[in-house]
Amino acid sequence: MDKIEIEGGKSLAGEVSISGAKNAALPVMAASILSSGENLIYNVPRLRDISTFGKLLAYLGMGYHQENGEVILQSANISSIEAPYDFVKTMRASVLVLGPLLARAGEAKVSLPGGCAIGARPINLHIIGLEKMGAKITLTEGYIHAKAKRLKGAAVYFDMPTVTGTENLMMAAALADGETLLENAACEPEVVDLADALTSMGANIRGAGTNIIRINGVSNLRPLNYRIIPDRIETGTFLVGAAITGGDVKINNCNPEHAEAIINKLKETGTNITSEGDTLHVKGPDKPTAEDIKTMPYPGFPTDMQAQFMALMTLAQGTSLITENIFENRFMHVAEMRRMGADIKVEGSIAKVKGVELLKGAPVMATDLRASASLVVAGLAAQGTTIIDRVYHIDRGYQRIEEKLKVLGARIRRVKE
Ligand code: EPZ
Repeated sequence: MDKIEIEGGKSLAGEVSISGAKNAALPVMAASILSSGENLIYNVPRLRDISTFGKLLAYLGMGYHQENGEVILQSANISSIEAPYDFVKTMRASVLVLGPLLARAGEAKVSLPGGCAIGARPINLHIIGLEKMGAKITLTEGYIHAKAKRLKGAAVYFDMPTVTGTENLMMAAALADGETLLENAACEPEVVDLADALTSMGANIRGAGTNIIRINGVSNLRPLNYRIIPDRIETGTFLVGAAITGGDVKINNCNPEHAEAIINKLKETGTNITSEGDTLHVKGPDKPTAEDIKTMPYPGFPTDMQAQFMALMTLAQGTSLITENIFENRFMHVAEMRRMGADIKVEGSIAKVKGVELLKGAPVMATDLRASASLVVAGLAAQGTTIIDRVYHIDRGYQRIEEKLKVLGARIRRVKE
């Protein structure tokens, strides 16, 4: 397993370009199942999760090809309706084929994702919504087996906003008979990007980005020719990298509006951020001031930035309360940061972070995608050498993060095992 080695203490400086959003590219790739023909998707990040999803779509009978950020998906024929456990266990977003397969082929057999490091992550809300639309769903031997001659439009109320749940139902509804109403829907920019992609295919969708989305089913959809939005979490991660090292960085090809909550919170810590078009200019403070965060569904502070923000708070002036409201086990980075000298106490869903003078480099272990990113930014600021093990986690969501950081002056390298 590869490791990443960082010699900390150097301020980041220079310019970095943000890649396309992983969590927009995955549902948009799934949407290609709804068409029949050659789908072109641009600005797709070169990530492990993307290639895993492409292999799953190929397993379903589609043609998949990715080069230089462009994905080509040939969806003329679907020869299988099954997403096997081997795919789903490595990437739970595979569940995104459920809705489109049901809409396109009238049947889908998808392995239950099982939990992951950050929580149980059930998909009951996906299933309830599809049953409301007339799908007959049985759970046998760890697989969801769904059937529907033709899905019918329905009113679906989500007990809590679910990003992939909203996306699965939106795709299923795009070809259903009649109008579907999604209430308490997720408002994330990635949901809006999927809605825009489906609309470009000929779907009839209104209200994406609000809690109420109306979809009027159509009889067929044309293939995609679509460009993915920039990744707001990668943007936030580089903002924190500049903030924690007292750096001066220009972040290009991003969408500042999608990172509003992150930018506002970082400004409160004394980080200077200005935006111009699709560029953010960030200057880190000598010492950040402690600020509290509570993770919330969009447009609140994103759970996918909680670990990275905590890394910054370990070196802040004062004490910060970090409340994780979305997932039940998303503090696994705390034990690793403690090894670097951080002063953090966890009580239930709240982490109390007391700023310390300095962090000391140490061997640490990545446990999930965003936790590994938090260890990278902590390592950038720590005194001495940090070695991060199990970096395959980070490769799932960041396109060669060490190369982008090296361009910004970081002393970082990948150590091949
Ligand atoms: C998406 O996961 C993202 N993944 C996650 O990013 C992100 O952390 C999460 O949304 C929250 O923003 C993708 O988009 C591929 P949810 P998702 O359904 O859709 C509960 C990353 O780092 N819930 O919005 O799986 C659930 O347990 C990943 O890129 C149910 O109870 O998240 C959680 O507590 C990590 N039943 C809450 O809702 C359901 O049927 C929000 O989960 C569905 C969800």
